[in-house]
Amino acid sequence: MRLRVRASGPLRGAVRAPADKSISHRAAMLSALARGTARIEGFLRCDDCLRTAEALRLMGVRIDPVGTNTLEVHGVGLEGLREPDGPLDMGNSGTGMRLLMGLVAGRPFPVTFAGDASLSRRPMDRIAIPLRRMGARVEGRGERLLPPVTVHGGELRGITYRPPMASAQVKSAVLLAGLSASGETVVVEPAASRDHTERMLAAMGAQIEVDGPTITLRPGATLQARSMRVPADFSSAAFPLVAALLVEGSEVLIEEALLNPTRTGLLDALQAMGGAVEPEERSAVAGEPVGSMVARPQPLSAAEIGGGLIPRMIDEVPLLAVAATQAQGTTVIRDARELRVKESDRLLAMAEVLTAMGGAVTEREDGLEITGPTPLRGATVDSRGDHRVAMSAAVAGLAAEGETVIEHAECIDTSFPGFARVMQGLGADCVEEEE
Ligand code: S3P
Repeated sequence: MRLRVRASGPLRGAVRAPADKSISHRAAMLSALARGTARIEGFLRCDDCLRTAEALRLMGVRIDPVGTNTLEVHGVGLEGLREPDGPLDMGNSGTGMRLLMGLVAGRPFPVTFAGDASLSRRPMDRIAIPLRRMGARVEGRGERLLPPVTVHGGELRGITYRPPMASAQVKSAVLLAGLSASGETVVVEPAASRDHTERMLAAMGAQIEVDGPTITLRPGATLQARSMRVPADFSSAAFPLVAALLVEGSEVLIEEALLNPTRTGLLDALQAMGGAVEPEERSAVAGEPVGSMVARPQPLSAAEIGGGLIPRMIDEVPLLAVAATQAQGTTVIRDARELRVKESDRLLAMAEVLTAMGGAVTEREDGLEITGPTPLRGATVDSRGDHRVAMSAAVAGLAAEGETVIEHAECIDTSFPGFARVMQGLGADCVEEEE
């Protein structure tokens, strides 16, 4: 599929983003390990999360769809998973693969995880290193342990692990393995990454303590099923939000999005650039803060974005790069090396997309330098099969003159099914077309 985007008039209206992808994955996984049945309302029916649900089914977990967006997960308890008959195909989903690697590491059977071409290039050594220290055997391709990977689980011992990168996937995999380890498992993060696993484990009765960067999990507690409603994904809401900041005359209400501070670094970065979007915190959903906010155009100025802010906006860096093309001065994004091992090399991909559209972008080893404001012009660009690159390019296309064609845009379904329709609802000129 190809997405054709043209500069449109003001974007106006209200958007409720689809359900949070990170929370949907975790809700399915942790409910599977719990005792009892959990109703997960608003489970994100995107390819990534459906792969996680299917993988759990293949390990013996009954998961019943109820209506269109609700799943009922019948927990089997920590010991209840069974060996799947064949490899588990995780599609494009790094979160699905990495968290499940941790989840099965304490089980007395091997599990092989495979993925699509993009996932098959992503390193799994970051998960294998701590799991091996805990006592599991992990095999994969080459030094970086590329998928397919096999986890030969068994008896695990708790460890203290200091991951070299701030990664919620690594942290979560270690914590999930720690649930069935002997002794306590401690993860000390170099900077705060998203904390949904910790919140959900605590809500389900796990013995988990968070003290600054140190998370301590004691095994032995039985997880209790908890029904929940999944909040709207801030990472998805970010696309219409930034589009509204960049398209003249816009005013878009972002409804009830997740406002967990480990996820909203983009708002801090935009504020540093003069584009304040003030969320109103309204309530808590599934133990997570949610709220609404209104986005309108504002003059942006360059800023230096790096350090602990990056993990709090890890998936929004491509979108910030789009905003930076319209900011006065040179925006420097650094400490963002992790973007090179996402669904694509996002630093390279965004440098290419924005340069093709007339942006002044220099790629650095750990980030981007973007000088603005430069008028963007439509171009034909490749998503590289990466949903966030495709949607970031679409936002750039809305702020550009002429027509932008985003090739291989079907990957958008990975996280934001219905993206084109939602943007059309705001008045955006954006149409899907078969390639
Ligand atoms: C995710 C964590 C992030 C993020 C990904 C989802 C998660 O990866 O990029 O889209 O749900 O845990 P890292 O924590 O590995 O950076």
